[in-house]
Amino acid sequence: EKGTYPHFMLKEIDEQPAVIRKIVQEYRHEKEGIKLDKDIRQAMLDTDRVYIIAAGTSYHAGLVGKQLIENLAKVPVEVHVASEFSYNMPLLSEKPLFIFISQSGETADSRSVLVQIKEMGYPALTITNVPGSTLSREADYTLHLHAGPEIAVASTKAYTAQIAVLAILAVDTAKAKGIDLDFDPLQELAIVSSAIEALCDQKDEIEAVVSKYLETTRNCFFIGRGIDYFVGQEGALKLKEISYIQAEGFAGGELKHGTIALIEEGTPVIALATQKNVNYSIRANVQEVVARGANACIISMEGLNEENDAFVVPAVHELLTPLVSVVPLQLIAYYAALHRDCDVDKPRNLAKSVTVE
Ligand code: F6R
Repeated sequence: EKGTYPHFMLKEIDEQPAVIRKIVQEYRHEKEGIKLDKDIRQAMLDTDRVYIIAAGTSYHAGLVGKQLIENLAKVPVEVHVASEFSYNMPLLSEKPLFIFISQSGETADSRSVLVQIKEMGYPALTITNVPGSTLSREADYTLHLHAGPEIAVASTKAYTAQIAVLAILAVDTAKAKGIDLDFDPLQELAIVSSAIEALCDQKDEIEAVVSKYLETTRNCFFIGRGIDYFVGQEGALKLKEISYIQAEGFAGGELKHGTIALIEEGTPVIALATQKNVNYSIRANVQEVVARGANACIISMEGLNEENDAFVVPAVHELLTPLVSVVPLQLIAYYAALHRDCDVDKPRNLAKSVTVE
């Protein structure tokens, strides 16, 4: 039930700190640090390459998951859009492990890949919010998101839960491989949870960003580099699906290869700046679009922020920034939809789970 909330989406955004805390609690082991199914640990040790299969927001979480697994566990990862996988099937490695990421566990596009790879005899792990779901039952292993029912069509808490669980899986694999990490995911996730809580108390500021940058626009661009690029893609998906503003996420460096032609006087460009190594170059991209008239809105992270940034999120570990930087983007989409009188929880033409291919 919505309780005092006007929309499920807002309620689910606000639930994110509690969901992260719940995940920390569910995956904590008194002695070993992380509690994880031994068979899943072994499957991660046995594989020479992980193939992540997902759609939409879950695909965007997969892009972040690749960074986490490759950086921490040193296992190569490919991420594929489920509906394209069969047509563009990559040459598979000798010992592939397929990871299906799906909030509902019912996405037909993902299921069709699961059926296909099971016929080929490969192991599958499903990361889902619904343990009894089709993708969970038909895979060899399941990791549960513990996010509670997600009702709004636009996925919010499932995305953050997916990334949190992928971080835990990545660290568990690293430890099992004997890789020395100075990264305690459960401790870092606790910091993330407090950071999201602080963000959820700043809704008025985010609503003001919407009033300033998005009130009458027909389009909006999100730019970022590295992990921020993936979060920008998710921000664009959220905005387009519920506010119907045409939105796209681009890699900062790609702008000059074509997209910058679309920048006009007043075009909103939301830039993410949460990564130290690209802070200079993403700000250079912002200068390029501002010089062509863009209305640039920089969302940065504490410690990397500059004077005129539109919004600053609290600092967290550099691999976990998507968990906090996505929150203002979720809220931007929410208020943009609200200001346009859109049906926030049930956008046109969309269903909560897509059970047709
Ligand atoms: C976007 C959204 C969709 C889903 C996609 C996959 O807000 O909700 O893009 O993420 O349809 O759904 P699941 O994760 O249930 O497989």
